[in-house]
Amino acid sequence: MKIATKLIHAGMEPDPSTGAIMTPIYQTSTYVQAAPGKNKGYEYARSQNPTRKVLEEALAVSENARFGLCFSSGVAATDAVMKLLSPGDEVICAADMYGGTYRLFSKVFEKYGIKFHYTDMQQAGNVSALINQQTKLIWTETPTNPLMNVVDIAAISKLRKPGKILLCVDNTFASPYFQNPLDLGADIVMHSATKYIGGHSDVIHGCLMLNDADLREKLYFIQKSCGAVPGPQDCFLILRGLKTLHVRMDRHNENGTAIAHFLKQHPGVGKVYWCGFEDHQGYAIAIKQMRGFGGMMSFTLKNDSMDEALRVLTSTKVFALAESLGGVESLINHPASMTHASIPREERIKNGLGDSLIRLSVGIEDIEDLTADLQQAIG
Ligand SMILES: Cc1ncc(COP(=O)(O)O)c(C=O)c1O
Repeated sequence: MKIATKLIHAGMEPDPSTGAIMTPIYQTSTYVQAAPGKNKGYEYARSQNPTRKVLEEALAVSENARFGLCFSSGVAATDAVMKLLSPGDEVICAADMYGGTYRLFSKVFEKYGIKFHYTDMQQAGNVSALINQQTKLIWTETPTNPLMNVVDIAAISKLRKPGKILLCVDNTFASPYFQNPLDLGADIVMHSATKYIGGHSDVIHGCLMLNDADLREKLYFIQKSCGAVPGPQDCFLILRGLKTLHVRMDRHNENGTAIAHFLKQHPGVGKVYWCGFEDHQGYAIAIKQMRGFGGMMSFTLKNDSMDEALRVLTSTKVFALAESLGGVESLINHPASMTHASIPREERIKNGLGDSLIRLSVGIEDIEDLTADLQQAIG
């Protein structure tokens, strides 16, 4: 099956009790057993839920994976991967990534004796220089949030000793429709399904997709033991979002491309960060590993001051000023004070994320309305 058919049909069987074509929301905490230990495969909803099971199968298919596991948020999915590690283990991760991931690593897991090395992963050589006997995980995000840097997944994958170091890729920005890291050698794909997969800004959700059965057992054990599982209604919403991912992503890509070019030629705009430009330093890798660029981009203003950035951030009428991304509606965001505020300023500036950077999540509205809104806001 091709991708659109897979996204619509993956994991879906008519409900066995009624024939309902759409997976019901199994709003239950437990399941009646015929005798102790004699059940229909479901014992307690932290461990198993039929709505979640269908979603996990569908998410696995979307990433060409054997297994999917769902969590109550993207951060909870990241947290589960970190719990595979032990004190003394080392992680190499992208210097430029979502602020909440950085906060989880630096403020929570460092305390438990895990050592994190942050580096610019656009150069694979930076990663190989940090690999040692303690390295157990390489964590990357591509394209990165918010600077749209591109990491060569296949090149990073080849740096590892097979079976010794896991490679996990946060694929939130590209979505499974535009990029499949497992096919490029990664061991685990992580998504904040809150974003493009859910697609409607109405649910917080995270997931992991992977191929190795032993690794799946370890992560399933963490999922049920630590308990950061999503409720069935949230699983239903993500399942519904997944079915239209391809049509939404095509439109995000179309609008995103138009807005990136609009910004690039605008006299009031300084630099535009978007990996679909031929002069972007990661373009060659982007077109090798991605099938589209989606709707994410960042930019600075020619008058690169905080006051001017704040003026634009509060002047848009269609683009709503809000955290998050990947929904059908367009959003404008100030990473330094919003999504990336948890990264210390010096670190942020060193990695190229300036105080006045503006991030856009371009939605699927009419492009004329989006360009007119930015035009009136930038001036
Ligand atoms: C790239 C990326 N990864 C992970 C997350 C965390 O996901 P969640 O907010 O669903 O916990 C986010 C949230 O913005 C994100 O942008």
